[in-house]
Amino acid sequence: SHLGQASSPAAEVLGPGYPATRPRRNRKADWARRLTAENVLTVNDLIWPIFVIDGENRREPVATMPGVDRLSVDFAVEAAARAADLNIPVIALFPYTEPGLRDERGSEGLNPQNLVCTATRAIKEQVPEIGVLCDVALDPYTSHGHDGLLEGGTILNDETVNMLCTQALVQANAGCDIIAPSDMMDGRVGAIRTALENAGHKDVQIMAYAAKYASAFYGPFRDAVGSSAALKGDKRTYQMDPANTDEALREVAMDIEEGADMVMVKPGMPYLDVLARVKDTFRMPTYAYQVSGEYAMIKAATNNGWLDHDRAVMESLLAFKRAGANGILTYFAMEAAQQLRDG
Ligand code: PBG
Repeated sequence: SHLGQASSPAAEVLGPGYPATRPRRNRKADWARRLTAENVLTVNDLIWPIFVIDGENRREPVATMPGVDRLSVDFAVEAAARAADLNIPVIALFPYTEPGLRDERGSEGLNPQNLVCTATRAIKEQVPEIGVLCDVALDPYTSHGHDGLLEGGTILNDETVNMLCTQALVQANAGCDIIAPSDMMDGRVGAIRTALENAGHKDVQIMAYAAKYASAFYGPFRDAVGSSAALKGDKRTYQMDPANTDEALREVAMDIEEGADMVMVKPGMPYLDVLARVKDTFRMPTYAYQVSGEYAMIKAATNNGWLDHDRAVMESLLAFKRAGANGILTYFAMEAAQQLRDG
């Protein structure tokens, strides 16, 4: 056979035991592969980001994210219930803010009655068993699309952090379980931690977007929350340079020091090296965000029949586990959870 007989030339050179090690033995059958698998994806690894929109009984497709809709609060509650039925541990809420509510300072982000707070209250009331994560940053609320206060072409750091603390507090008051600062201002994790402690929210977790890069892969997300048309310039003075990894470790170290319970690397697949280094270095609960552009790429290819959808999705998610992620924020969460349930 092709596996080599005792009389094969290789056996003559290397001895009768050639080859002593045959890695293919452990791959010979499904049971053997399952027995030796080093990593496994489960539903507990999935965080499902959803987009929320004003109104009732309203569902609006996001053109650049086929299969993703913006949902009014009633539909968001229904989505949360479906996610909970599948045992997805957490959903992440992102608001589409009506243009009339956006201003220079992103004031609507601090309104306790804003869309995200309303959705959080509704979900925590009707689907209390699911965790709710809220993003902290001003970009869904500012008329210029930046994550912070803009003054003469500069994003102000400390003034923005003050606003983010209030934003985190209104979300925590609404019942948010995990505050996730995605703004990349310096010192914001520590400031938010102090604000939460002072307000008695000692059990609210912080998942820091610790290593968040200035990436082209956020494009479809900005369409979904309506900030792309408005965005003036880019975010390179606060989000990280895609050229850097050591800097990611310094960012993560600071966020842990400042009180983060969990850290995140974002985007996902193009940054698996960063994810692996972060996990190896800090051994913290570490998450990857498979962002909107990654979702769009996979959907574009699978909708064209160029890739097998289910296999491509599951392989992409398993890759995060292999690199060291404890969980993944992914727009595929529901599809993946269904696949995991149905086997
Ligand atoms: C807001 C925020 C962004 C994403 C998550 N939170 C966009 C940005 O930073 O411009 C991107 C998520 C995605 O692309 O799926 N700061």
